[in-house]
Amino acid sequence: MKHRNILLALLLLPLSAMATEVKSPNGNIVLNFTVENGRPTYTLSYKGREVVRPSHLGLELAKDKHASMGMDERDLMDGFVLDKEETSSFDDTWQPVWGETKDIRNHYNEYAATLSQRWLSAPPKAKNGARLQPRQHRRTILIRFRVYDDGIGFRYEFPQQPELNYFLIKEERSEFAMAGDHKAWWLPGDYDTQEQETQESKLSEIRGRFQEAVNWGNSSVAVFSPTGVQTSLQMKSEAIDIDGERRSLYINIHEAACLDYATMHLELVDAETKALTTQLQGNSNAYTPNPAPSDYPLPQPFTFVSHLTPDATGLKGCMQTPCETPWRTVMVSDDARDMLSNNLILNLNEPCKLEDTSWIHPTKYCGVWWEMIVGRGNWHYTNDFPSIKLDKIDWTKVKPNGTHKANNENVKRYIDFAAKNGLDQVLVEGWNVGWEDWANMWKRDVFDFVTPYPDFDIKMLNDYAHSKGVKLLMHHETSSSTQNYERHMEEAFNLMNKYGYDAVKTGYVGDIIPRGDHHYSQSMNNHYLHVVKEAAKHHIMVNAHEATRPTGICRTYPNLVGNESARGTEYEAFGGSRPDHTCILPFTRLQGGPMDYTPGIFVTKLSEWSNNPSWARITIAGSLALYLTMYSPLQMAADLPENYEKFDDAFQFIRDVACDWDDSRYLEAEPADYITVARKAKGTNNWFIGGKCDENGHKTNIKLDFLDKGRKYDCTIYADAKDAHYETNPQAYTITKKVVKAGDVLKLTEAPGGGFAVSLFAK
Ligand code: NOJ
Ligand code: CA
Repeated sequence: MKHRNILLALLLLPLSAMATEVKSPNGNIVLNFTVENGRPTYTLSYKGREVVRPSHLGLELAKDKHASMGMDERDLMDGFVLDKEETSSFDDTWQPVWGETKDIRNHYNEYAATLSQRWLSAPPKAKNGARLQPRQHRRTILIRFRVYDDGIGFRYEFPQQPELNYFLIKEERSEFAMAGDHKAWWLPGDYDTQEQETQESKLSEIRGRFQEAVNWGNSSVAVFSPTGVQTSLQMKSEAIDIDGERRSLYINIHEAACLDYATMHLELVDAETKALTTQLQGNSNAYTPNPAPSDYPLPQPFTFVSHLTPDATGLKGCMQTPCETPWRTVMVSDDARDMLSNNLILNLNEPCKLEDTSWIHPTKYCGVWWEMIVGRGNWHYTNDFPSIKLDKIDWTKVKPNGTHKANNENVKRYIDFAAKNGLDQVLVEGWNVGWEDWANMWKRDVFDFVTPYPDFDIKMLNDYAHSKGVKLLMHHETSSSTQNYERHMEEAFNLMNKYGYDAVKTGYVGDIIPRGDHHYSQSMNNHYLHVVKEAAKHHIMVNAHEATRPTGICRTYPNLVGNESARGTEYEAFGGSRPDHTCILPFTRLQGGPMDYTPGIFVTKLSEWSNNPSWARITIAGSLALYLTMYSPLQMAADLPENYEKFDDAFQFIRDVACDWDDSRYLEAEPADYITVARKAKGTNNWFIGGKCDENGHKTNIKLDFLDKGRKYDCTIYADAKDAHYETNPQAYTITKKVVKAGDVLKLTEAPGGGFAVSLFAK
């Protein structure tokens, strides 16, 4: 009898008692998954070193007034048993429409755990007093992991089922328990902006640094917790013994394929955390969605817990099964260069959904832009009205203010400059009526996106541009009045098709209208994607500023050629960014997709040509390097034509540099210190190399072992002069020409805040 019991006990032993181990293809990364006291739990290691300590997975659900939704408000947090485990392997190579390399290998081992919650509800009372049976319930979810050699992705999947049909998310509670007090490069977690300077600190120092880390001057700051940070979050561990050497682990947390879901932030549990989503003191205008402490115990210190962006009601997700969350990603390596060459986020996105992509192309552009950002001209046309009602004004009769820059003569000047220098397009901002009172007025009907100001002859200018082999690049600032944009979008895209525009820069300055929603909520993420999909129908490429940070969706919709979603070059006119800023962005913001950083400032002291005292903390050679180190298929030459004309020999590099690549090799990298990359231009044998460093300067020896053996190359080196310095001598550079071959070494010195750029044309 005793014997039988043991046998029975063994038979009943839930699958959950044993952890399942899943290794990456080369075995460096090991994932363990188990169900611990009913809670899904995972760990992650790299070359035998702990990366993620036991961390729980789950979602808290919200109550809803509509009983008809048929949902049980029981959370998807605990009470799980493991029903089924499936493993598989995948190895495929695909070709992006544009990218850093011609081929991308997608190689992983997959593990899917099917989990169920079962419970009995109280028996309903029968009218005749009979005893009814309690009702049995069962709900199933899947957690799917993909284990790569350089990281993992996991997501929750919700099959359609009677007990989980529609549901509302109060909070996703995915944990990432860090194994130490790592150094981190972080931005304050915010529902509406990430135009902030990156902070560098230990995890334990985030709380103390938080308040001063916030750029309160930004027009839509909505921070939510003194330990809330944004993704992609880059970290570095203390040096540990790996392969017989002292090395650090580089760890990055982000997300992939954020579709029909809110953008994820991370909230750190530190020594002082009392409850997740602690109310922030001070002047945050964030709506605090969950002031009540969570029902679930707090995890260990140095654990990040996911924190989703709420909608206007404080809810974080409205779901209908079958559906899934985005992938949560943890990238890890003991070599910082792998953080930059990693394709995990693109790989976790769906393949391209556009049948014809022939109209999508890399683009180099200049624009009627920088002079307005710096303050030497305006987007708006008149100063005559206290406010503008679009349908009440006869624009032909208003008095021009004389400072409107999107005028025929000025735009023609930029078109001539683009044509002369081989740039593909000219961005023109301020071409359409409505800029007189465009920002932060809670104004719904702010632009119509189709009516040009009287001094912008849309037909003539497009014809003029086309006659010179140049296109105009459209600008749609929405002022975050999203319904207004959606109402006008079809007409606006038709206008673009009519005049031959094939790319639009959109913008979402200010708080979201209708009020209460946030830039990174589920509904706003749906809006941005809607714009990209509608644009694709019109063969239009999209570059969205202030929209949510990208998560690799450009693989699926490659007409999403750029995003801003970080502190771009415009901040060089608003007080400036630190010299190490561009040595951090590739590790953080660029993980999810390219940034329209708008580099290329040659006259860095803006007071030389304007009344703006701000200045860019970079040398000219450093500015050239950004065309390589800040990968994007869309690259702007942002400075004024007349400023480039003063340094025409250096501008030659911008004329020459490609923005689409067959191959990319990260030669050196260290977050916030330096990045050196060599790239092979698409469809050619030509290479370009860029190196960018922080305020300390950098010395490098580049071995040209990636060049074709036996081939000679015309090499031009644009380097900082010996006495160059981002503050005192930013315009001191040297240009050296020589012939090189595979195996030669280039010895280069980067000045403080500087860099270098090299072109190598195959002979
Ligand atoms: C902010 C954008 O980032 C900037 O590039 C643009 O010029 C302004 N908004 C106006 O739309
Ligand atoms: Ca911006």
